[in-house]
Amino acid sequence: MEGDVSIVMTDNEKKLHEQAYEEVEKKRHIDKIDPYRQIFHVMPPTGLLNDPNGWIKWKGTYHLFYQWYPYDTTHGSKYWGHYSSKDLVTWKEEPIALAPSEWYEKNGCYSGSAVDNNGVLTLIYTGNVKDEEDRRDSYQCVATSTDGTHFTKLGPVIESLPDGYTAHFRDPKVWKQGELWYMVLGAQTVEEKGRVVLYTSKNLTDWEFKGAIAGAGIGGITDFGYMWECPDLFSLDSKDVLIISPQGLEQEGIHYQNKFQAGYFIGEVNLDNAIFHHGDFAELDHGFEFYAPQTTVDENGRRLLTAWMGVPEQDEETQPTVTNGWLHCLTIPRELHIHEGRLWQTPVKELQKLRHDQESITQTLSASDLLTFGDLAETAMEFVLTGLEEIKGIFEWTFRNEARLIFNAASHMLTLERRNTRTHLTEQRHVRIDSLKRLHVFMDASSLEIFINGGEAVMSARYFPSPKDKSLTMRADEQVMISLDKWVLS
Ligand code: FRU
Repeated sequence: MEGDVSIVMTDNEKKLHEQAYEEVEKKRHIDKIDPYRQIFHVMPPTGLLNDPNGWIKWKGTYHLFYQWYPYDTTHGSKYWGHYSSKDLVTWKEEPIALAPSEWYEKNGCYSGSAVDNNGVLTLIYTGNVKDEEDRRDSYQCVATSTDGTHFTKLGPVIESLPDGYTAHFRDPKVWKQGELWYMVLGAQTVEEKGRVVLYTSKNLTDWEFKGAIAGAGIGGITDFGYMWECPDLFSLDSKDVLIISPQGLEQEGIHYQNKFQAGYFIGEVNLDNAIFHHGDFAELDHGFEFYAPQTTVDENGRRLLTAWMGVPEQDEETQPTVTNGWLHCLTIPRELHIHEGRLWQTPVKELQKLRHDQESITQTLSASDLLTFGDLAETAMEFVLTGLEEIKGIFEWTFRNEARLIFNAASHMLTLERRNTRTHLTEQRHVRIDSLKRLHVFMDASSLEIFINGGEAVMSARYFPSPKDKSLTMRADEQVMISLDKWVLS
């Protein structure tokens, strides 16, 4: 699979590409009329976006693909859409990477990853196939490109399932270590329990099944959901991290409040024996929308993460952007580190390039007085708020009258609330923190990402304020001096 590969497109592939481009061109005008189109987040030109796929820095350029259904805002047969970027800030729309044109992917080119194989950009993804009775087959497939733009499909490289697994067998994340390629896959046992399995290969074509490395029946886990999607396994700060998106967890207090979760285990992996000793599962985000994250590593060794700012089957169709034929976006890229046994996330420093018109305000919040900041100049803003250690009671920060962050110093609880798009009622998510020192907020036209205490916790959410409402208010129930830095992002 090395060397040059000429680009061959089947007639069906060409047809599917043309149909999708036609759809995109028909909908271009939504950028001008939809107040919820994002300014600095990756979103689909039209249709539905879900998981980030194939994220890689290749020949000096970041490539970021995504699960995409171009025709409407449902989870139809997925394409791979494609953006590229020099700096993780400005994203260029690239030609379609994959369309579900062949028998082994006819119901979707599902999630996967990208590697550099001796200069050849190689995508490894799951071909999803369903028959008339809705029975499923999954194929792990390969497509290659020498220019980073046009991909040639080489077809399935793993066609059969190992004993004991159902066809919910997908989302290959591939990397190279030493002379070998490794692949982790999200899997479900025939008892309908979630697991992650490991394969190895010398050439990306012939794969050997090594066994399950985590999940039901392994390492102390008995039952932890009926399916684990989108695994990612990597070394970070002298530890090994396994990220998964498990399905089927029940809410436990302030944990697992969303329909489906995304989180991680930290431990030590032995790839030769397919053994992963790990600690407890922890959620990656404590807001409303966050699922199927994927990481990549840049040439300086930074471990970067982005995720789908959405959750499957969680009020997707009632988001107001559906009216204009598009749905969902990705999170901003975040850098990962381990601190005191936990994953910390910080916005990548490149995002500072977006900053304009800085204003710094130091102000006393007096007891029960509402502090209003006047109308925001724009709906894409960044805020850094400090001085919060003095808060003894309740502090509230309201964003455009549509979302509110509430800290209760007595119970150590940070709460994000917003209006639900289906019920129109207020709903909440919570995270416990010892103390509140710093809030770093990325506000886009229809999203908030709140980084707490320099990355200890993150809360991400879509929100859909009235376009006219550009208000920002704060309130504390005791006197406290705060400092706020804000920037317009463009
Ligand atoms: C996660 C997921 C993946 C699958 C893809 C299909 O959101 O269900 O498991 O590959 O989405 O779009």
